[in-house]
Amino acid sequence: MQRRGNTVLITGGASGIGLALARALLANHNAVIICGRDEVKLQAAREALPGLVAMRADVADPSDRARLVERLRLEAPRLNVLVNNAGALHLCDLTSPAFLGDLDTEIGVNLVGPVALASALLPLLRANPDPTIVNVTTGFVYVPGAYNAPYSATKAALHVMTRSLRFQLRAKNVRVVEVVPPVVDTPMAAHYDGKKETPERVAAEIVAGLASRRDEIVIGMSRIARVLARVAPRFAFQMFNASAPAALADRS
Ligand SMILES: NC(=O)c1ccc[n+]([C@@H]2O[C@H](COP(=O)([O-])OP(=O)(O)OC[C@H]3O[C@@H](n4cnc5c(N)ncnc54)[C@H](OP(=O)(O)O)[C@@H]3O)[C@@H](O)[C@H]2O)c1
Repeated sequence: MQRRGNTVLITGGASGIGLALARALLANHNAVIICGRDEVKLQAAREALPGLVAMRADVADPSDRARLVERLRLEAPRLNVLVNNAGALHLCDLTSPAFLGDLDTEIGVNLVGPVALASALLPLLRANPDPTIVNVTTGFVYVPGAYNAPYSATKAALHVMTRSLRFQLRAKNVRVVEVVPPVVDTPMAAHYDGKKETPERVAAEIVAGLASRRDEIVIGMSRIARVLARVAPRFAFQMFNASAPAALADRS
């Protein structure tokens, strides 16, 4: 992807990594559209970033996805980049049936939403130069989190779908990129009190990785997780899950 002149949809772009990426892409002279479920957050993003277009849509909802795709066809006919960034993470006690609700939500947002949106937007993306699909996963695709199993499992599934889609679309000149952030200081990681990367640094690495046409943009600690998962998988699993997150321990 060129650094400038793209038209980019970032799902879940009203906060965290998505918002920082929207800011970085706008600064590089790209047109940026974000979507999310919360109109208040979308309006705050519009006010913070002049030129940003925000559309309300739940990526897990098939009717919302269809409406979003139709709106993009009409209002953003030059769309050439989809960033599947929207995500959900719940800390889960797998011994309590309550986790099944979280599992449903996470399958919808982390897996079905991104894959279905890529499929529905493919004709529009391919009608434009340098079509690119970017899926945001996590270091947990290499070393699963024992306390966020639905999140790790759905993101690992997205990792597999991303590799397969890249393989299938190579002949059609559509680039499929995976971004693998470390723990980042966003609302999603509010429960985590260890070291966190800033959304701005992660956004800068994504922009640089896209410009240098990398298939996988693996950032910070996620690189360590990838190596450890290969050379010492059992040790890595123990190390990354050494203690229950305080938010989950508090519930027991
Ligand atoms: N933070 C981390 O440590 C970390 C690490 C690795 C990977 N990631 C990944 O990075 C991505 C961005 O997360 P973040 O850390 O920036 O967290 P965040 O600030 O909580 O952002 C997630 C965004 O997704 C949106 N969203 C959630 N469900 C949605 C749905 N059904 N439809 C549309 N939008 C939805 C949320 O907006 P609404 O609530 O308004 O819909 C929110 O703006 C996620 O895919 C996450 O898995 C994060």
